[in-house]
Amino acid sequence: MLKGRRIVLGVTGGIAAYKAAELVRELIRRGAEVRVVMTAHACEFVTPLTFETLSGHRVATDLFYRTGDYTMDHISLAEFAELVVITPATANVIGKLAAGIADDLLTTALLAMPAPVLICPAMNSHMYAHPAVQANLARLASFGYTILAPGTGELACRTTGQGRLPEIHEIAEEIESLLTVKDLTGERILVTAGPTREPFDPVRYISNHSSGKMGYALALMAKRRGAEVTLVSGPTALPAPQGVQVVQVQTALEMRAAVQDHFKKATVVIKAAAVADYRPVDCARQKMKKKDGALQMELVCNPDILAEICKNKGKRIVVGFAMESEDLLANAQKKLLAKGMDFIVANDLTEPGAGFNTDTNIIRILDRQGGTESFPLMDKLEVAGVILDRVNKMRTQEKRG
Ligand code: PMT
Repeated sequence: MLKGRRIVLGVTGGIAAYKAAELVRELIRRGAEVRVVMTAHACEFVTPLTFETLSGHRVATDLFYRTGDYTMDHISLAEFAELVVITPATANVIGKLAAGIADDLLTTALLAMPAPVLICPAMNSHMYAHPAVQANLARLASFGYTILAPGTGELACRTTGQGRLPEIHEIAEEIESLLTVKDLTGERILVTAGPTREPFDPVRYISNHSSGKMGYALALMAKRRGAEVTLVSGPTALPAPQGVQVVQVQTALEMRAAVQDHFKKATVVIKAAAVADYRPVDCARQKMKKKDGALQMELVCNPDILAEICKNKGKRIVVGFAMESEDLLANAQKKLLAKGMDFIVANDLTEPGAGFNTDTNIIRILDRQGGTESFPLMDKLEVAGVILDRVNKMRTQEKRG
């Protein structure tokens, strides 16, 4: 999602400088164009050649470097950047930036920089806790810089405490978030994701193949766009999306209780979970023993969570999904009208790249006015984007009256 975004990475002289090389790779993998500036101390830890090779561009290190075309690096970097990230940020550079000192290329470029700045401090835990460092960070925050607090754990100086550089995917996610337009600020979005598991003894259950990827993508995109997000998730192997409140559930009844709990404060509900329609009437206390012959099991219908919440929908925007393997549009239309949501996102399991456990999806959006919009194969994050665009459009139309 960083396709074509222009990022300047400032590397300063801490042991975590070697991890910045991994950040360059991650940003490029996400589609960004990266230019690297290194301080003299950073060059003691890692050579510019590493960053040149990874970024495919000259690494700027010297304030007085003559570019040959009469441009100045500190100005052209400021013009290039849509965002600057300093990884790792040492106590020294944090202090210099807080004081407005410009004694090398990075600190000078920062003074000329209109773009948002992300600071990722990494240092010994006592240094990080020192009142001078904390006061300088508070001052940088007051300039509008974003500070990504370091993690706690084992440090390179063989102590344990707060000072570890956050994980590379956490820094990349913060960058994604900073570069995303906050058009959903003020919305409280409740998303459901994943399967439910309906147990019939302590070791077995009825479930489905939902991986949770579609719902997690929706939660992450909504958070990036400024919404406050709660994700009610069935069991998945996915990490919790950064900045999202996650409520873990197992069964349809637990999902129903969690949705009802969080529904009251939600302004938007998006139900991407694949809820089991039936559950076993009984759950044996002990593991069921294998017997000869067929096994009969009585199932009872689970409550339809979506239909229930739509009865008290009020001004909330409610979005459902329809997962079909035949007659996609007709079946989706039936669900849209029967359950009472604002629009439904239909996906067909039989289409390659769509539905369960893929990183992509192919969707149609059907609305209550009879409109249908079809979308091509897209990454699930992009799919989440078009669904949230539709939510935003509805909200804007509603505000206009
Ligand atoms: O998780 P992934 O691997 O990324 O796969 C994504 C997905 C295929 C699960 C997702 O895109 C999707 O289609 N989710 C809805 C699956 C589903 O249960 O569809 P349905 O047609 O059976 O249900 C219709 C709607 O009613 C859904 O919004 C569902 O959440 C809701 N429902 C269904 C049954 C029930 N008891 N309560 C409900 O709220």
